[in-house]
Amino acid sequence: MKGIVFSEFIELVEDKFGFEMADDIIEKSNLPSGGAYTSVGTYDHHELLELVTHLSQETGIPVEDLVKVFGEHLLVRFAEGYPMFFESVTTCFEFLDSIENKVHVEVKKLYPEAELPTFDSQIESEQKMTLIYTSKRPFSALAYGLIKGASTYFNEQIEIEMEDKSTPEQTKVIFSLVKL
Ligand code: HEM
Repeated sequence: MKGIVFSEFIELVEDKFGFEMADDIIEKSNLPSGGAYTSVGTYDHHELLELVTHLSQETGIPVEDLVKVFGEHLLVRFAEGYPMFFESVTTCFEFLDSIENKVHVEVKKLYPEAELPTFDSQIESEQKMTLIYTSKRPFSALAYGLIKGASTYFNEQIEIEMEDKSTPEQTKVIFSLVKL
């Protein structure tokens, strides 16, 4: 997983819980990288899961909730760092529809070593969209947060439902989105 994801996570922990908490969870986690992340580096995604697990133990907040909030934060940072992906669309559904065939395609060109999920998306009407997340990694809560962040960015109220269809081999979650 790209270093940008890790450095954004550590920054968010520092912001919300303080520098001591960030140092503390890095120390408690058994990190091959030692916790020194650069945005151009690539690290094992298990390191992120370990950091979040320790943050959850320290704060009493469930892992799932922490990862969702992280996704919302990440969307804001992506909007700052990659404005072109947001300027070329007008609605949240249109944006989400562009992740698989445009946004992540460009990400892969920039970082060939990036490990990306697959999104099978279908805009069914102006009010309804289905987005199927498939990945070898367990980051559907991150996708939830990113979707929620996108709805905030586009100033649209969207109800997000998740249906878990995962198998031991892969994570698969069906997101049903309803624009209110
Ligand atoms: C401009 C917007 C976006 C950019 C620039 C972007 C970029 C990235 C990057 C750099 C990674 C890390 C890849 C790696 O570490 O190897 C990633 C992973 C991921 N992205 Fe995006 N992304 C964007 C929007 C979204 C949105 C809106 C969603 C959800 C619908 C999403 C879902 C994910 C998920 C869940 C992962 C984690 C990897 C996995 O689940 O297998 N992304 N993305």
